[in-house]
Amino acid sequence: MAKTSEINIGTALKLPCGVTVKNRVCKAAMTEGLSDDQNRATQKHATLYERWAHGGSGILLTGNVQIDHRYLERPGNVVIEGKQSNEQISRLRAYAEAGTKNDTHLWMQISHAGRQTPADVAPTPVGPSDKQLIMPGAAFGKPRALEHDEILDVIERFAHTAKIAKDTGFTGVQLHGAHGYLLSEFLSPDVNTRDDQWGGSLENRARLLLESIRAVRKAVGTKFPVALKLNSSDFQKGGFSHEDAVQVATWLNDEGLDLLEVSGGTYEQPKLVGLDKMTVNPDRAEEVRKSTIAREAYFLDYAKDIRAVFKGPLMVTGGFRSRAGMDAALQADACDVVGIGRPLCVDSDVVNKLLSGASDTTTIFEKRLEIGPKILRPLIGLNSPIRFLSTLNGWGQQGWWCLQIINMGEGRDPDLNMGVFKALTGYQANEKKTAKAYNAHWNA
Ligand SMILES: Cc1cc2nc3c(=O)[nH]c(=O)nc-3n(C[C@H](O)[C@H](O)[C@H](O)COP(=O)(O)O)c2cc1C
Repeated sequence: MAKTSEINIGTALKLPCGVTVKNRVCKAAMTEGLSDDQNRATQKHATLYERWAHGGSGILLTGNVQIDHRYLERPGNVVIEGKQSNEQISRLRAYAEAGTKNDTHLWMQISHAGRQTPADVAPTPVGPSDKQLIMPGAAFGKPRALEHDEILDVIERFAHTAKIAKDTGFTGVQLHGAHGYLLSEFLSPDVNTRDDQWGGSLENRARLLLESIRAVRKAVGTKFPVALKLNSSDFQKGGFSHEDAVQVATWLNDEGLDLLEVSGGTYEQPKLVGLDKMTVNPDRAEEVRKSTIAREAYFLDYAKDIRAVFKGPLMVTGGFRSRAGMDAALQADACDVVGIGRPLCVDSDVVNKLLSGASDTTTIFEKRLEIGPKILRPLIGLNSPIRFLSTLNGWGQQGWWCLQIINMGEGRDPDLNMGVFKALTGYQANEKKTAKAYNAHWNA
């Protein structure tokens, strides 16, 4: 085994289940929106993940794959529930075969969107309680609190989806316990105001998460990688706190996880993409150069406390951009795996370049609306004091990344010249069209 001081992103990693991953870089989960109108996998997934598989990451995490067609994160999510048709099985197999090329692991992220289901998918979503999501510029209905039996059904669904992932050739699964989706909502005392065995104390709020992990492990056996994405904090007053996260991480020691990924934030506090720290700089390359290692990976400090209690492999995602920053985090034993998301929307080959030394850094484009006189532009960004503008920019950014993923899924290269306004309108149009197809199929 390599000494910590000798570990770098190219070092292989043996997981507790016995599986070895070829290096320390994991492509973070990014929603694709590439399903067909019945929420099945398509050739576009295979095209996209084959491209990423050749890009050098040791592990590719898929975007959200949903366990219940009624509660999606996006109308174009893949859904795996109930008995699978032969057609869906063969599409999933093709997806898995493409994404595991080049000795790459392809792990399916499995999820339930809870109250963060958009209103055009579910006018009345579900959650631990009936507390509605407040988010400017987006429509989410008032949720209905899940009944006890429905919670048990959620646990079974996680296990079922994981089993299908395994059976169709995916080489691991990750439960999505972060970012304000259902498992993360149960953890939050702000969102979960139940007074039964699923709410109240942290032990009760963590019950759905822990039971879901146990059911998944039982379904896939001990030799198959099972991972979890967990918030280091919701970064919201009254929400799932950092102390809560450290306690949950301690409990996770009993669950035999193969990888714990640390992230943070929710739709209400979009810290997962560093929104409150993201300076909107037209000189994008400078953004990267100016970063210090500590500022580069914005959850590392939080991960330190989790590292102190959690004994399994740890992954940190959010902001990693330089080879030096990634190697430094590994050599400082802050984590075992680095997660990278947005850079892989710009350049699918960037991990190969980092591994070979052809590049020292990744690029991400932080775009903003180019409106108004130039002198006012500093005000028109992601952190604009004018809330409406920062929201528009935030949605525009998200649309930009999502459209690049669609470009690659459809066999094109990313369009790096795309403006944020075009991204915003193009993304909205795409979501509208997909939601129409979703409703025509499921709610006709
Ligand atoms: C377009 C896009 C889609 C995302 N979709 C998901 C998702 O489906 N599941 C998830 O856990 N995180 C998702 N994320 C968050 C990423 O996994 C990651 O935590 C975040 O982008 C920070 O990493 P980065 O700074 O390397 O991009 C998404 C992020 C982006 C930009």
